[in-house]
Amino acid sequence: MRSTLIQNVLDAELPAIESASGVWLTDTEGRRYFDACSGAVVTTIGHAHPHVVRAIAEQAAKVTFTHRGAFTSTATDALADRLTAMTGYAGAWFVNSGSEATEAAMQFALQYFRETGRPERQWFLSHRKGYHGNTLGGLSLSGHARRGVAGELAHDFPVLTAPYAFRDAPGLTDAEYSAVLLGDARRRFEEHGGTLAAVVVEAVGGATLGCTTPPDGYLQGLRALCDEFGVLMIVDEVMTGAGRTGTMLAVDHWDVRPDIVALGKGLAAGYSPMAATLVNERVLGAIREGSGRIHGGHTYAGNPLSIATGMAVLDVLENEKVIERAAALAPVFQAHMERVASVHPSIVDVRGIGMMRAFEFELTDGRQRATGALAARFAAISQHEGAIVYATTGGYNDAVSVAPPLVATETELDELFDIIDRALTVFETELGIGVPVLEGTVS
Ligand SMILES: Cc1ncc(COP(=O)(O)O)c(C=O)c1O
Repeated sequence: MRSTLIQNVLDAELPAIESASGVWLTDTEGRRYFDACSGAVVTTIGHAHPHVVRAIAEQAAKVTFTHRGAFTSTATDALADRLTAMTGYAGAWFVNSGSEATEAAMQFALQYFRETGRPERQWFLSHRKGYHGNTLGGLSLSGHARRGVAGELAHDFPVLTAPYAFRDAPGLTDAEYSAVLLGDARRRFEEHGGTLAAVVVEAVGGATLGCTTPPDGYLQGLRALCDEFGVLMIVDEVMTGAGRTGTMLAVDHWDVRPDIVALGKGLAAGYSPMAATLVNERVLGAIREGSGRIHGGHTYAGNPLSIATGMAVLDVLENEKVIERAAALAPVFQAHMERVASVHPSIVDVRGIGMMRAFEFELTDGRQRATGALAARFAAISQHEGAIVYATTGGYNDAVSVAPPLVATETELDELFDIIDRALTVFETELGIGVPVLEGTVS
């Protein structure tokens, strides 16, 4: 009998997960999978962390829902205080998903310009090859393959070239590549300057291209252009924020301070739907001195259960020094990625930052496959071998992201890369690429 569950691939027969602990998932048949992409770059602190599980149970026994229009709670204020203290922003607006966080960031920018007498600033500049969520605003910001579902409803904003050094700038230094990208950006600012509300970019390209790190100087240069043209800078840190790159925010690597930041995924680490938009004093102060109210919100936003979960996740990040540990583990992780790439000729690029890194595949013998087919096939083989990786879905390349929980141990990483190496061998054997030999260990 057909399932009544509507899935992305309607009749897909996916394994059902029965339980999870740390970096491992176990299905109903007893098969174990290494959660090597943290779900969708979400589960930073691993599964079933006892502190978070306890906090959720305690909160559930007290109260699970009140509406933010009628009540606040000391925990909600405390979470906002803690998040803003950790990041240096003036305020935190809670929502339920990364898409809502980006959408809210856009609405804050629009409101800022309405409240300060410049309502004509309604346009956004973003990377064509980026991803900001599945809402109309988010899809309008990106040229991700999913944009097709919105058809003409997605707004046709002008776009910037996304940093993608491997394909677009072979042989260029960071300074040279930044100059190229910023030259292109300056032309867009000059063309649309007076109508622009904000630039919205990912700090590191995630779902669309696979862990593409910008050249040093690029985000700093974009910040300077925003200042020169009176445009707000929004950075979408839904994938990169809350420690994924070894710092609380990925922009910290380049010392850049956006006006607005979208957070999601790692913020509640998969324990509850939870996301936030962080807003600086320039924007929040203008709204406070203007209408003094935010027109928007979602019913479940800031519900007590999610707030308690977010608090508990931040406890774990701080008490167990998870972000510092991620920064320390990153070079070991990178060495593993490079080591397997060095013996698997289907991999033509290895890239990334912190605990989010990607392989890009290509058939170098001239054979053609539909874009994305190699990445999807590898992800399927890797799942079969016991490690879940994240194939890009943007429609631009064949990259696969590996982004394990930040709490993975070195021994667990050894185990993960044994599985990935095995999966690569199966993949390449199937493609007739030859059987490599991997020797030695990283640690
Ligand atoms: C950078 C970025 N922004 C926004 C989103 C959308 O988040 P959500 O799927 O939680 O709505 C994603 C999801 O992958 C993302 O990677």
